[in-house]
Amino acid sequence: MKNSKNKIEEFIRVDHAGERGAVKIYEGQLLALNTIIKDESLKKTIEEMKIHEKEHCEFFENEIKKRKIRPTKFLPLWDLLGVGLGFGSTILGKKAAMLCTASVEEVIDKHYQSQINQLGSDEKNLKKKIIKFREDELHHKDIAYEKGATKKGLYSIMDKVIKTGSKIAIRISEKI
Ligand SMILES: [Fe+2]
Ligand SMILES: [Fe+2]
Repeated sequence: MKNSKNKIEEFIRVDHAGERGAVKIYEGQLLALNTIIKDESLKKTIEEMKIHEKEHCEFFENEIKKRKIRPTKFLPLWDLLGVGLGFGSTILGKKAAMLCTASVEEVIDKHYQSQINQLGSDEKNLKKKIIKFREDELHHKDIAYEKGATKKGLYSIMDKVIKTGSKIAIRISEKI
């Protein structure tokens, strides 16, 4: 099965935006943890997950350059919203901070799975990478639940807001 060039460009554009957004969310969380919130164990967890996101982001950054794909025009806005979401969720507490990771990863799980299903044999390496990254994200989601993410009560609203926001960002970043 051959993939259209346009579709592959959309995949890489949105994945690049998403992985960069993930780095920014963790930067925002670490900003809170380095200033007003003291939680060394949470900080260590987030620093570890951020290393994976950087690796994911660098891969797509490279693909963008190699294939001469235009990155989304919304990068500066996603940067701002990512840091804001990370910072905001963390000052609400550990449960909110970890729910932020869980909610985003649940959206990304489905997003990557859909790409994996569509990628043909002409994009073997890209497919292999996305399969690996999706496994990393699922691992992050498990860590988030282990560390206290919950969807009880008001947290269910936060979950829905983050998921809706992430889905909108995905739609926009594919095209624009
Ligand atoms: Fe990632
Ligand atoms: Fe992740």
